Amino acid sequence: MKPLIIANWKAHKTIKETAEFFNLFKDKTELTEKAEIVICPPFVDLPLAYALSENTPITIGAQNVSQFERGPYTGEVTAEMLSGLAKYCLVGHSERRKYFAESNDIIRRKVALLEKYKIIPVLCAQNEKEIPSNLETEKLVLVYEPSFAISGDDSFHPDDPSNVLKMASLFSEMFGGKHKVLYGGSVNAENVAQFVRDNTQGVLVGQASLEVNEFDKIISSLGV
Ligand code: PGA
Repeated sequence: MKPLIIANWKAHKTIKETAEFFNLFKDKTELTEKAEIVICPPFVDLPLAYALSENTPITIGAQNVSQFERGPYTGEVTAEMLSGLAKYCLVGHSERRKYFAESNDIIRRKVALLEKYKIIPVLCAQNEKEIPSNLETEKLVLVYEPSFAISGDDSFHPDDPSNVLKMASLFSEMFGGKHKVLYGGSVNAENVAQFVRDNTQGVLVGQASLEVNEFDKIISSLGV
């Protein structure tokens, strides 16, 4: 099975920068033989990213979704709006938990709506307590991502690979081995091969996914 590499652009890239990234990256699609590649741009860039990824093996994901299905919720983007554009959607990222009070109850509601609109939730958690019980979903991707490992300004300080292995096994066992488990936090081309092995089926990449050549190096450094 190909590793799953998810790029989380966070609050980076204008529409123009998104177009530039895809124009350069589409020439590198031979890389998709090595991995399933998902790019999660900001909402405003999603339709363009979706259009530019058509007829390429690149898949598009969203970084967030509303906990509400529709209605008077100013500024919200719902699962229904994302359906057809995004195949995956991040939920429970530590930055959303920290800055936007995303709780396990909110995550449970988001996961149920994503399931309803056939979008695969990518649930980020630092430990087993951040994985809500009774998730209503058939499909799920889990990400072990400790917040201390998230990169700072150009500094990469990932978790220890043996700890990643332990946590990935724990997350996997919680679902009887049914779902993929990824690792996230300071992944770059130098360290990616240490993390995509054994019980870890891919990575969530933030900072090192923003620049085509750097992202490209991560994929070509996979030991597969
Ligand atoms: P990072 O971010 O790769 O920049 O550490 C990962 C993430 O927060 O998803």
